[in-house]
Amino acid sequence: MKLSAYRIAANKLRTTPILSIEAESSTVKTFTFRDQRCARAEPGQFLMLWIPSVDEIPLSILHAEENGMVSVAVQEVGEATSALHNKTIGELIGIRGPFGNSFTPKNGRILMVSGGTGVVPTLFLAERLASKTAKLVFAIGAKRKEELLFMNRIKRTLGGEETQVIATTEDGSYGIKGLVTKPLQKLLEREKFDMIYTCGPEQMMRKVFDLAEKCEVALEASLERLMRCAIGLCGSCVVGRFRVCKDGPVFTAKQLRQVKAEFGVSKRDFSGRKIPL
Ligand SMILES: Cc1cc2nc3c(=O)[nH]c(=O)nc-3n(C[C@H](O)[C@H](O)[C@H](O)COP(=O)(O)OP(=O)(O)OC[C@H]3O[C@@H](n4cnc5c(N)ncnc54)[C@H](O)[C@@H]3O)c2cc1C
Ligand code: FES
Repeated sequence: MKLSAYRIAANKLRTTPILSIEAESSTVKTFTFRDQRCARAEPGQFLMLWIPSVDEIPLSILHAEENGMVSVAVQEVGEATSALHNKTIGELIGIRGPFGNSFTPKNGRILMVSGGTGVVPTLFLAERLASKTAKLVFAIGAKRKEELLFMNRIKRTLGGEETQVIATTEDGSYGIKGLVTKPLQKLLEREKFDMIYTCGPEQMMRKVFDLAEKCEVALEASLERLMRCAIGLCGSCVVGRFRVCKDGPVFTAKQLRQVKAEFGVSKRDFSGRKIPL
């Protein structure tokens, strides 16, 4: 496979110090650093963050500014993310990227649906689109109130008249009790949307996809798979005929129809074996 000059440059590892660390919940922290390449990223793109002597992990870009500042929000789930959470301001990390495609920006009536850290790319997109859309509804779900990430920032972003935030928690500690997909059926029956953007647990996105298909609304979903190379070489991120790192991570409904047997159903483990989600 021939790599373009852009890809070769993006793939070069850059070391940079962590400039700030913010706790968003008991398990999620936002890390900000300077990286001129990732500062030009579009919502939906991801980077590879190297934690020296530990591992390198894929992370969606939360925020990117022209002045070079870039942020990611990271949930502590295992060895690499714990090591990153233990880092302090000034310590060095490595960055490759930005990688992958991005959401296609639309200005009409928009619905965004996020769960867990899936809010990272949709919030980045909402911040870029909010002032341009005819209507923007942001649906966000979590197990409990404490895990609803960036609520103040989402409310600030969606300050206009034609905007709405719908929050759900599984234990009912905030917003509507239940899964984030619960209020969507009625919403989609009642209102016409031009585009749904979604990111979160894949079973949630599959439900959103099925609803979008039923209501004939265009959709883009950002998928997560195990990633190693991030440039389409190793094959660890395959879903059907697609490599999520290179063909995605954002997929259209048309592409998702081609991988319906796997989307929301199974993924590959570190040995390449297909396992249930
Ligand atoms: C495109 C993309 C964007 C992502 N964005 C975010 C984000 O914004 N915030 C966030 O907190 N997490 C994000 N993730 C998930 C994050 O990469 C994993 O949580 C992280 O790699 C886990 O590493 P670990 O060593 O701490 O955990 P491990 O102990 O290795 O594994 C814990 C869990 O993370 C999954 N995982 C492990 N390694 C990878 C890998 N290389 N690629 C994908 N999943 C992996 C495993 O399936 C397992 O379920 C994203 C993943 C992808 C593919
Ligand atoms: S991570 Fe290697 S092909 Fe996608």
